[in-house]
Amino acid sequence: MVNYGTGLYSWTFTITNNCAYTVWPAVLSRPGNSLVSTGFVLLSGDSNTLPVPPAWSGRLWGRTLCSINITGKFSCITGDCGTSTEKCTDRNPVPPVTLVEFDFNGTSYDISLVEGFNLPVRVAPMVEKCLATNCLTDLNTACPIILKEVRDGQVVACKSTCETEACLSSLFFKRACSDAQVYTHDDAFFTCSSSHYTVIFCPTSKR
Ligand SMILES: *[C@@H]1O[C@H](CO)[C@@H](O)[C@H](O)[C@H]1NC(C)=O
Ligand SMILES: *[C@@H]1O[C@H](CO)[C@@H](O)[C@H](O)[C@H]1NC(C)=O
Repeated sequence: MVNYGTGLYSWTFTITNNCAYTVWPAVLSRPGNSLVSTGFVLLSGDSNTLPVPPAWSGRLWGRTLCSINITGKFSCITGDCGTSTEKCTDRNPVPPVTLVEFDFNGTSYDISLVEGFNLPVRVAPMVEKCLATNCLTDLNTACPIILKEVRDGQVVACKSTCETEACLSSLFFKRACSDAQVYTHDDAFFTCSSSHYTVIFCPTSKR
């Protein structure tokens, strides 16, 4: 394990759950990147600040409808990473899921709907000159029928059908969330340097 020493975890992000429901955020480092793999619970209205090493790259997302079953295994209806615990270790989520991606080495950040959508999010750098990126609308409601992910009669997520180029889902996602990256080569990322970011799930929710 790499020791960054005291004071070098000077980059942080604060994750806030503004949804009316509980969200279980998961954070995963990009392969070859150091440390930071965590998962935890955020009740409606709660936040948590995480320190990350300099030049860190990785992704984070919000899992919903999580529970622990009779055999003690943790799982989520959306964003599940298959580890059976709150922590995702080195596992990516099962789509559809809204992803927030950071590359602090290139100091870029984006919201990706390349793997679909499960909840609205806002990413705001704490430096005034840097732009926030948003996907404010709950796309589950408006999701085209053939893209809806339904569990127990409830629409829990909206699927992506695109990979490297525009398609049905990307046209729908782009119309509602123009900031977001909707297929791999979309290049909808923001480049700006800030050492603190806020990530808000359900930013416009009235709770
Ligand atoms: C408990 O959850 C795990 C992980 O999702 C699953 O593999 C297992 O089948 C579940 N067991 C029961 C009894 O529901
Ligand atoms: C940061 O970027 C530089 C130049 O683009 C690259 O050489 C270096 O490997 C990157 N470092 C990390 C930790 O990704």
